[in-house]
Amino acid sequence: MIATQIKAITVDENDEHRLAIRTVDLVPALQAEVTIRITAISLNRGEVRRALTTSLTGTRPGWDFAGIIEDTNGVTDAPPAGSRVAGLLAVGSWCELVHVPLGSIAMIPDGVSDAEAACIPLAGLTALHAIRKGGFLLGKKVLINGASGGVGQMAIQLAALAGAVVYSHIRQEHHRILVEEASTGAVITGATLDEAKSHGPFDFILDSLGGASLSAAMGMLKKNGTCITIGASDSATVTFDSNLLFFGSSGAALKSMNIFHEIAAAGSLADDLEMLLGLVAKGKLKIKIGTEKEWTEISAVATALMERRFSGKAVLHLPGALL
Ligand SMILES: NC(=O)c1ccc[n+]([C@@H]2O[C@H](COP(=O)([O-])OP(=O)(O)OC[C@H]3O[C@@H](n4cnc5c(N)ncnc54)[C@H](OP(=O)(O)O)[C@@H]3O)[C@@H](O)[C@H]2O)c1
Repeated sequence: MIATQIKAITVDENDEHRLAIRTVDLVPALQAEVTIRITAISLNRGEVRRALTTSLTGTRPGWDFAGIIEDTNGVTDAPPAGSRVAGLLAVGSWCELVHVPLGSIAMIPDGVSDAEAACIPLAGLTALHAIRKGGFLLGKKVLINGASGGVGQMAIQLAALAGAVVYSHIRQEHHRILVEEASTGAVITGATLDEAKSHGPFDFILDSLGGASLSAAMGMLKKNGTCITIGASDSATVTFDSNLLFFGSSGAALKSMNIFHEIAAAGSLADDLEMLLGLVAKGKLKIKIGTEKEWTEISAVATALMERRFSGKAVLHLPGALL
C-alpha cells in the first residue's frame, strides 16, 4: 500500500531558514511510473539559490536522487522492487517517495554508493551533453572554466575520457587538487579566464560563468572552434569583440545547452545515466563529496553550500539509509 502523504523538503517563506521538512500529499502514480523510496539526494547550487531566494511557499525543490524501487506498479520492464536506482526530476526529489517513469532513472551498479550515485544525474548529464556539443574530441584542445564546480569536475573528466587535451580554469589555487588528475593539458589559476589565453587557441570551450569569462572565451577559439555556454555563475550580460571571430577564428560558433531541454528532446535519460554510473563503478569518473549529512540538516547544508564553505558535492541522507 503506497502512502498518500510523505515528508518533503519544502520552501516556507515564513520559516527563518526558508527550507523545512513538511508533510505533503503524494499524488498517485501515473501509468508507467514506478515508486521509489529515496535514500540520498545531492544539492546543486542553482536549485538551492532559487529555493533560498525566489521560490514561493509550497515549492518542492529537488533534482537529483538515489533510492530503492519500492513498487514497480506493474510497469513492464521495470527493475524488480528492491533495486537501487538513481535519477533526475525537474522538481520535487527532496522527499521520501517519488513516482517516476523508467526514462528518468538508471540502476546503480554494485560498488557505487547511493551518495555517489545521487551526485551524478544533474551535474553528470549536463557535463555529458555539453561535451557532446564539441563533437569528436580526440586530441582536441578543450578549455573548461568553473572546473572546480559540480558540472566542471564532471566535464573535465568526461573530456579527458573522450581523449581531449583538457585545460581546467579555476579561481582558487587550493582547488587544484580537485582538477589536477583530469587536466591533461594544464590547470590554469586566475581571477579571470584571460590567464588561459597563452595556452590557446582552443577547439572547444565550455563556459558556465558568462560575463567577462564568456567574453574572453570568444577570443580564444581556433578557426571553426566551438564555445558552449551553459550558465551565468558570474553574469548573464556579455559583450565581446566580434572582429576576433571574423578575422581570428573564422567559422567559430557559440552554442548553448539546457539539460532539461536535451532530456525532453531525447525522451529519456536512462541510457546516458547508466553509462555515467558505469564509469563511476569502473573508477573512471570520480565523485568528490564535500559534505554528507542527514536531510534534517537541509538548512545548514544549503547555507554552507551557498557560502562555499566546502568543496565538492553536498549529499543528504534520508532516514533508513546508512551514513
Ligand atoms: N545549462 C544547463 O543545463 C545547466 C545545468 C546545470 C548547471 N548549469 C549552470 O552551470 C553552472 C555551474 O553549475 P554548478 O552546479 O557546477 O555550480 P557550482 O558548483 O557553483 O560551480 C561554479 C563554478 O564556477 C566557479 N566560479 C568562478 N567565478 C565564479 C563566480 N563569479 N560566481 C560563482 N562561481 C564562480 C566556481 O569556482 P569556486 O569553486 O572557486 O567557487 C565553481 O568552479 C551554473 O551557472 C549553473 O546554473 C547549467
